[in-house]
Amino acid sequence: MNEKGQGLDVLLTETRRFAPPEHFKEGAVVSDRGLYESASADRLAFWESWAEKLDWFERWHTVLEWDPPHAKWFVGGKLNVSHNCLDRHLNGPRRNKLALIWEGEPGDVREYTYEGLHREVCQFANALKGLGVGKGDRVAIYLPMIPEAAIAMLACTRIGAPHSVVFGGFSPESLADRINDVGAKALITADGGYRRGGIIPLKENADKALESCTTIENVVVVARGADLTAKVDAHMREGRDHWYHELIADASADCAPEVMDAEDLLYILYTSGTTGKPKGVVHTTGGYLTQVAATMQCVFDLREDDIYWCTADVGWVTGHSYIVYGPLANGATVLMYEGGPDWPEKDRFWDLCEKYGVTIFYTAPTAIRAFMKWGEEWPDKHDLSKLRLLGSVGEPINPEAWMWYHRVVGKERCPIVDTWWQTETGAIMITPLPAVTETRPGSATHPFPGISVTLLDDAGAEVEAGFLAITEPWPSMLRTIYGDDERYRETYWSKWDGIYFPGDGAKRDDDGYLWLLGRVDDVLSVAGHRIGTMEVESALVDHPAVVEAAVVGKSHDVKGEVIAAFVTLKGGKDGDDDLVVELKKHVVEKIGAIARPETVIFAADLPKTRSGKIMRRLLKDVAEGKALGDMTTLADPAVVEQLKAQYEAKEG
Ligand code: WTA
Repeated sequence: MNEKGQGLDVLLTETRRFAPPEHFKEGAVVSDRGLYESASADRLAFWESWAEKLDWFERWHTVLEWDPPHAKWFVGGKLNVSHNCLDRHLNGPRRNKLALIWEGEPGDVREYTYEGLHREVCQFANALKGLGVGKGDRVAIYLPMIPEAAIAMLACTRIGAPHSVVFGGFSPESLADRINDVGAKALITADGGYRRGGIIPLKENADKALESCTTIENVVVVARGADLTAKVDAHMREGRDHWYHELIADASADCAPEVMDAEDLLYILYTSGTTGKPKGVVHTTGGYLTQVAATMQCVFDLREDDIYWCTADVGWVTGHSYIVYGPLANGATVLMYEGGPDWPEKDRFWDLCEKYGVTIFYTAPTAIRAFMKWGEEWPDKHDLSKLRLLGSVGEPINPEAWMWYHRVVGKERCPIVDTWWQTETGAIMITPLPAVTETRPGSATHPFPGISVTLLDDAGAEVEAGFLAITEPWPSMLRTIYGDDERYRETYWSKWDGIYFPGDGAKRDDDGYLWLLGRVDDVLSVAGHRIGTMEVESALVDHPAVVEAAVVGKSHDVKGEVIAAFVTLKGGKDGDDDLVVELKKHVVEKIGAIARPETVIFAADLPKTRSGKIMRRLLKDVAEGKALGDMTTLADPAVVEQLKAQYEAKEG
């Protein structure tokens, strides 16, 4: 089950324990187990108490209506997310507090106070209204990591227009699929964004995507590349395309927030699943903001003077919940950075931590493993003494990476919160509380208060090692798959009755600590990004030379997994190196660079069962260079032996 090189045997012998440091407990947001106790005494009252900390225009009449698998939280309540993230901070000292500190990859800096951010969000909200975008209209956002990404998201929530943010690394075709699936009316993009010295041509990609989209009426373009270098031509199309800065210049800063129902659609975010088509995960307003705000405060021990930095991209759920909505709902100061961690040197992150006095740092295991590989000298060049809490998310963190993070970055002073959650869960679900929980390297420890988790087998019996299962609805849970409620039921709720299946394997140790073991379905985790094997297979089969393809994950010391593709060509032909390059390029064009296969092997035949099912498990053994597993169900065992020989010749 575990595919991340973090064997059960390793975990079982992991005996290192880290109690919360004494100095950390002082003044901590959560300093004792009272929160767990009150949540288990009355789960709904617990969540209600967190909802009460938000600003509501109208109070809910019912905390939860649960008609499995459909939940409604804070039924009847009315609120607005941008009001909660901005307006409510303007009546006190937070008015002039920095909400956002942003540094571009080339080193340019912009800062927004809460008042300043509020003003620009209102202006852009009015600009969107001026383009005919209203409550309920979907807006696609395809931006680099620039302040306008957060501004655009907040402006959408202000006018009640659900956003669908598409990661800037996705290809035109992926962008078009997502635009078409939600029927977006407007697209917000930029002429380009900086990444490792180069410019990603977002507008050019967007123009290509729009060739196959019919619903987009207006495109707003942020001048990012042109702003700095004038090297980028945005190819503005008269009547359809508008410069962001021109719209803002003419827009009023007076924009009343739309009154939204707690269950109104807040956003849609696509994530990979086990079929070729990504799923549009639907999040609504009141429950989402409640859990995101609560976890932000408790898990990160957020205090008024913290400088908080989450290194994710806004194109992923971590960027939604823990760069924009969670921190801003709590009036935090957020650092946002545009570019790569190794640009211009491998100490850029540590340079940023030192320069801005970052106190809370939240990143992914794949990044930590890259830092390990680059060496301690890079963090050691910088004063990291302001850091007081470290976080990890996105994949299981192997104990060695955890220890390195603890020792080299945290200087054995900072608690580490290993947070398990998903696009679908909306907010953190399993995590230590930093002043309360004794941590163990590699364990996400315990469910957050108010979250009910167990481990089940296929038949739904409780086990000590098996499938992770969430047994009660939670406020920030996805409500459905956009336009496909059947798929929602099928994917998450059909394994057991009324219990959510996240697709992860896990184990509980003798002390009740949870150890997440990775995906149990055909979803890969490449550098912490979810990629469906079927998506990559569809992209390969789309190439005219290919008849069949099977994709598996192969362990990788930095990325966790990389993609190995086994491809059968038309007429059973053998391919050459040029075709390997072409196929890789084809996948990048279809999906994006994150899905580029690391290895492509041409196979006259793929190993199949007698009923014709491709045995990915055996291909995985081949890719991992392992002894081949049970082959008794294989139609033709010679096929896989031959592949193994071929693979070894290629890799060797
Ligand atoms: C994995 C990212 C182990 C898991 C927020 C999950 C983790 C998938 C952890 C969701 C963790 C995330 N330990 N595994 N702390 N955090 N995962 O939707 O397999 O991009 O199902 O959301 O990442 O990835 P997603």
